Amino acid sequence: MKSNHKAALVTGGAKRLGKAICLALAEKGYHIALHYGQSEQEAEETAGLIQRQSVKCTLFKCDLSDMTAVEKLVSRVFQEFPGCSLLINSASVFKRGSFQNTDLAFLEKHLTVNFMAPFLLSQKFAQSCSSGLIVNMLDTKISKHSKHFFAYTLSKKLLHEFTKMAASTLGPAIRVNGICPGIILPSTETSQEALEKMIRKLPVKRKGSPENIIRAVIYLIENEFVTGDCLYVDGGEHL
Ligand SMILES: NC(=O)c1ccc[n+]([C@@H]2O[C@H](COP(=O)([O-])OP(=O)(O)OC[C@H]3O[C@@H](n4cnc5c(N)ncnc54)[C@H](OP(=O)(O)O)[C@@H]3O)[C@@H](O)[C@H]2O)c1
Repeated sequence: MKSNHKAALVTGGAKRLGKAICLALAEKGYHIALHYGQSEQEAEETAGLIQRQSVKCTLFKCDLSDMTAVEKLVSRVFQEFPGCSLLINSASVFKRGSFQNTDLAFLEKHLTVNFMAPFLLSQKFAQSCSSGLIVNMLDTKISKHSKHFFAYTLSKKLLHEFTKMAASTLGPAIRVNGICPGIILPSTETSQEALEKMIRKLPVKRKGSPENIIRAVIYLIENEFVTGDCLYVDGGEHL
């Protein structure tokens, strides 16, 4: 077991990008507080891979649409990892829906999981550690006005504004930054045909990989002069 005490809380860490971030942080010597919602089996498998890096990994199940549970999550994490200094808000709801198809329940789900949970986690995290970094996973879609993912895009735009406001209020102890991924690990919400069309339009003409996101996370950890920034890791999609 590595002896340093640095630890990270990663939401949605069981699979996909959250998993890739957890594994990269473990390789850098971070103990991992791995949050998951439904994916218990994947969370256990990811924890197994993390522990091979000789760091500790503890699983934290929490429904991020339940604010009472979210409020308790950070104190549960700090009891286990008092040296936690990194919060990665990666968990997210991503559902297709136009403005006209968005009812209040659909909007509320996106705003709760994608904005209110990161808001509350950031607030509790900032109260619990003397210095640290928050990274909010945003989306290149914030640069445009997506018609097809109205509630999702709105929730990420809100999280983007929050990122800047939190950075300006939480310094110097806490830095707050965002990452805006483009096409990295597409979800089933986007058809293969639509995806290929989107890739053809990108300046770099290819999709990205989790490694591109990991490099952005590591950059934000290492560059202590960066706060309130949002890195587009999207092959130029926002242009
Ligand atoms: N993948 C991409 O190419 C891409 C592109 C643009 C932006 N992003 C952003 O990057 C981040 C990571 O992307 P991703 O594709 O890895 O995300 P994802 O697969 O869409 O979702 C990550 C996790 O969020 C968790 N989650 C959703 N609702 C929850 C709830 N109510 N309570 C607890 N957990 C909940 C789920 O955990 P469980 O499975 O454990 O329930 C899920 O595995 C997201 O914020 C996403 O918006 C990704």
